[in-house]
Amino acid sequence: MKRSELNRILDNSLAFFDAMHFLLPPFARFSVDDWRRNKDHLQEIIDLQLGWDVTTFGMGDFNKVGLLLFTLRNGKLNSSVYPKPYAEKIMIVQENQVTPCHFHWNKREDIINRGGGNLIIELYHADPAKNGLCGGSFPISVNGMTRTLNTGDRIVLTPGDSVALEPIHAHRFYGEPGKGTILVGEVSSVNDDTTDNCFIDKTARFDDIEEDESPKYLLANEIQKFVCGR
Ligand SMILES: [Fe+2]
Repeated sequence: MKRSELNRILDNSLAFFDAMHFLLPPFARFSVDDWRRNKDHLQEIIDLQLGWDVTTFGMGDFNKVGLLLFTLRNGKLNSSVYPKPYAEKIMIVQENQVTPCHFHWNKREDIINRGGGNLIIELYHADPAKNGLCGGSFPISVNGMTRTLNTGDRIVLTPGDSVALEPIHAHRFYGEPGKGTILVGEVSSVNDDTTDNCFIDKTARFDDIEEDESPKYLLANEIQKFVCGR
């Protein structure tokens, strides 16, 4: 992804969060200079990868296959420094913008439609021990009520709806066409995107950035490089 596209996506996303009255922490708007000025106070943000996460899953077409996330809080597994057992993210999903099918070996996550359009989630029965799908039916909790789905079934989350995803629930999601962009919340156990995503179709979790202009904001996984030079 080019830096110029990333700058534009982040400006548009800040405007959408404002329009939805979802307030972000101060570092959401930090420039590179702001990050450097605060460099003695960033250890938790860097260690837990808080902040912006924009990906095309290695496909290079953000509007087609992509996701914008902001990690608001997180902990670290087996860490006495960061014992928090929970995490929270806020995301923006556009109409027909696909997040590819994946599951998490460890993380449990509630996906919540916090407003805007409708979120379509396709669900597949996964076998985390075999790193793949296993087919068949499975139980799942939608809005706190358990139902049984067959692998490949879709659910539609309208504003206010939520689903509780466990490691056996592989998921692929996108915004319903014609219904608008969606503000999507995620409340979960601790999150480690470097090790805990099993993509069924082997897509990548992070993109390389091509520097064609200066960064207006930094992604969570590049703060250390820009601020500490490593
Ligand atoms: Fe997920």
